[in-house]
Amino acid sequence: MIARHEWLVHSTTIANGGRVMNILDPAAIGWDRVREFVDSDGTVALTAMKRANTEALLADVFGSDFDFPQWNVHISAANRVLAHSERILAEYRVVDGWSLECLQTPNDHELSAIQALNLATGVAPLPGPYLRGDVVPSFTSCPWAHDGELAAVSNVTARYHEHSRFGGHVFNGSTSVAPAHRGSGLGKIVTAHVLVESQRMLSWTHVLAQVAPDNVPSRRMVESCGLACDPSLATFGVIRRGVQFTR
Ligand SMILES: CC(C)(COP(=O)(O)OP(=O)(O)OC[C@H]1O[C@@H](n2cnc3c(N)ncnc32)[C@H](O)[C@@H]1OP(=O)(O)O)[C@@H](O)C(=O)NCCC(=O)NCCS
Repeated sequence: MIARHEWLVHSTTIANGGRVMNILDPAAIGWDRVREFVDSDGTVALTAMKRANTEALLADVFGSDFDFPQWNVHISAANRVLAHSERILAEYRVVDGWSLECLQTPNDHELSAIQALNLATGVAPLPGPYLRGDVVPSFTSCPWAHDGELAAVSNVTARYHEHSRFGGHVFNGSTSVAPAHRGSGLGKIVTAHVLVESQRMLSWTHVLAQVAPDNVPSRRMVESCGLACDPSLATFGVIRRGVQFTR
């Protein structure tokens, strides 16, 4: 993904998702080309496709050796997201004595902690250079507990070309809360924090997030931060049958 970035940065049809190609317009780049990426990378993501008919189309193109996992797409405008997220940050606080910071260039220690927490919670981690903002602007909010343990993490990246379908949008994801700290609002705090801080720095107009249909805490977390589900859209993965990539 890093080697490809020289040309990906100019693409209005494919975004650099860090872990996988985020294909925004498969018809424009051609299904043969999509197939080449699946063959070389093992998987691709087709971002925010029209839900109706896409699964049948994918089955037609790729055949029965592949699975097509789906994620619900949540998209909202900045004013709605900021109103909800600022309310969350006013209502919920991290534990006294913890620090909450939004990192743009995490150091090696911070990077390892972020990636380890993602891995431990079933979220495929973003690569180091991507998290450090070497590839696209990246923001990672991190609440650190008294003992220096990283309790949670959430990321925003500005991965979409300004003339693509998602010009002005950022992507929010890679959110993890350590099991010992779940269920007390920390997922909402860390998500609201990265959204508010990244909006202040980048003035993005919209945010897009993807949530697996069975991930109820994740859905409620992003909805609490103002991201509404668009039921007409879904992000599809293309991956060899039986392989799981990320939550
Ligand atoms: C998803 C995750 C980050 C949520 O973190 P959390 O700190 O437990 O969530 P919060 O306490 O902030 O709660 C968020 C919302 O989910 C609800 N919720 C929390 N746990 C829940 C559960 N087990 N079942 C149903 N709802 C739940 C909360 O009530 C809240 O909803 P509300 O605002 O409507 O009251 C956490 O469960 C996690 O790390 N999961 C594994 C990794 C993952 O799936 N990440 C998201 C994919 S990128």
